Amino acid sequence: MNSASAPGKIILFGEHAVVYGQPALAVPVTQVRATVEVSPSDYRGVWIEAPDIRLKAELDELEPDQPLASIIPNLLYSLGADPFPNIDIRISSTIPVASGLGSGAAVSVALIRALSSYLGRTVSNEEVNDLAFELEKIYHGTPSGIDNTVVTYAKPVYFQRGQPIGTFKPRKPFTIVIGDTGIPAPTKQSVADLRKLWEKDRSLWEGIFTKVGRIVNEARHAIEYGKIKELGELMDRNEDLLQHMTVSSPELERLVEAARDAGALGAKLSGGGRGGNMIALAGASESSRNAIRECLLEAGARRVITTTIG
Ligand code: MEV
Repeated sequence: MNSASAPGKIILFGEHAVVYGQPALAVPVTQVRATVEVSPSDYRGVWIEAPDIRLKAELDELEPDQPLASIIPNLLYSLGADPFPNIDIRISSTIPVASGLGSGAAVSVALIRALSSYLGRTVSNEEVNDLAFELEKIYHGTPSGIDNTVVTYAKPVYFQRGQPIGTFKPRKPFTIVIGDTGIPAPTKQSVADLRKLWEKDRSLWEGIFTKVGRIVNEARHAIEYGKIKELGELMDRNEDLLQHMTVSSPELERLVEAARDAGALGAKLSGGGRGGNMIALAGASESSRNAIRECLLEAGARRVITTTIG
């Protein structure tokens, strides 16, 4: 049996504007993971089992709108598996689907690594990332490439389309509390809706995306110089612009407000928006994290994860 796993991710700053060429910051979230196991099958065909989404079927029996129906054959061809081997592919994940935590990218990266190792092919991180980007297009339509990049390299990334992948190192560790609205919201939809707005008035939206890009660069600077309070203010400014982009939702805003009321230094939605997860920057003490956590749960968060960066 060959297996591989990949972490989830959060976007700290710059989602959506990154699709239009602005920079963004993202970090892996190792508390949640997607795992793929590939083993020889006793039966003819490519058998897929994904208990989390109650799926068990041969490749040809998958509904055409199930992303795996395109992703798996695409990948097998790219890895030179012709004819397809008789295999069992088992996919499991603790990353909630359509929640902004990169479940699609994590499944893709784990699939690429597990299948290539089963087929005896060595693939570099760069190849994994390129293949995962192709698969992201199936999930997302017009992805920027940030999700597959942070999940493939499993390290903090400063990402800008068409530029070499950058990373960043916090001067001081900081803690992010992640609150899940529990509302699935496919990134494809919010990205497509924003694109329609952008098509109607490109100069207005380009101006907003440029403002986001400036916030991202200031945030990188604040992280690298340990200016945590400033980082919180930048989160709030990024959130205002995301609300303007119509990618927030009442449930996300309720959690963002609850985190701020509990003393978070800043808070914003994270990822595609409209549902999924929000993030809050906690103060240095454990009591600060706990207070935010409690308030998020009281305000209706389905799940809260705390992660320290740096
Ligand atoms: C999704 O995690 C981030 C978005 O900016 C989409 C993308 O970059 O592909 C909303």
